[in-house]
Amino acid sequence: MRKAKLVKTPRGPAKIKIKAPWEINLLRKANAIVAEVLYKLKEIIAPGISAWELNKIAEEIARGRGALPAFKGYRGYPFSLCVSVNEEVVHGLPLKEKVLKEGDIVSLDFGAVYEGYIGDAAITVPVGKVSPEAERLMEVTEKALYKAIEKARVGNRVQDISYTIQKFVEKKGYNVIRDFVGHGVGQSLHEPPEVPNFGKRGKGPRLLAGMVLAIEPMVVTGSHEIEILPDGWTAVTKDRGLAAHFEHSIVVTVKGPEILSRL
Ligand code: MF3
Ligand code: CO
Repeated sequence: MRKAKLVKTPRGPAKIKIKAPWEINLLRKANAIVAEVLYKLKEIIAPGISAWELNKIAEEIARGRGALPAFKGYRGYPFSLCVSVNEEVVHGLPLKEKVLKEGDIVSLDFGAVYEGYIGDAAITVPVGKVSPEAERLMEVTEKALYKAIEKARVGNRVQDISYTIQKFVEKKGYNVIRDFVGHGVGQSLHEPPEVPNFGKRGKGPRLLAGMVLAIEPMVVTGSHEIEILPDGWTAVTKDRGLAAHFEHSIVVTVKGPEILSRL
């Protein structure tokens, strides 16, 4: 065992796990369940439905597939699904009184554990007809995600992903959140490395085949500053500008990135 007291230099970043093919298979399964949940929630979203109902349905679908909700109990989070509306960026609570209305945009973030392996993905969807600005924000955020995934290649570095997101989003006149980041994912929801949505090309850990990353741009129309509501969870933009969030879990392979959470 290392004697921590004798270590004078700071420890480097924790080791990034390389997943075996059988582990990738379980992650594929977990993420397929997440993708199915998000797809079904997207289908039923309409004015009048409550975030609480969505949470219930998400958990039912996952359990029906032999999975458990991954977020419930994680750092004390009390629900299975995060439902973040308009200026809510992430970690919105699915409360009964949070009733969706025409014109809202709503971010749905879900995680499922299947045989010990975790799937994690998020989408932002419109409720009925939304403003052109909201429509554009969702488009830019989703496009930033797909551009970023393209950079998840052997030999590239983590911040090649980060840089791509920031560059694209800022070119479109929007901003990226700094206070939350993407992450490695596997048997734990959050594993090394952190995958920020901002950064410099050529920086950060080098990507290797078998690394599994949750890439999750959080994009806002105004300032990137956020605050946490008194509920202790909901992150909202300080200026109450709109926010969108898209997330996929991907595996780096010798043939390029494979999206695990695609339906
Ligand atoms: N997708 C989010 C993340 O990776 C969801 C976490 S919500 C929590 O951080 F409640 F589980 F923290
Ligand atoms: Co995540």
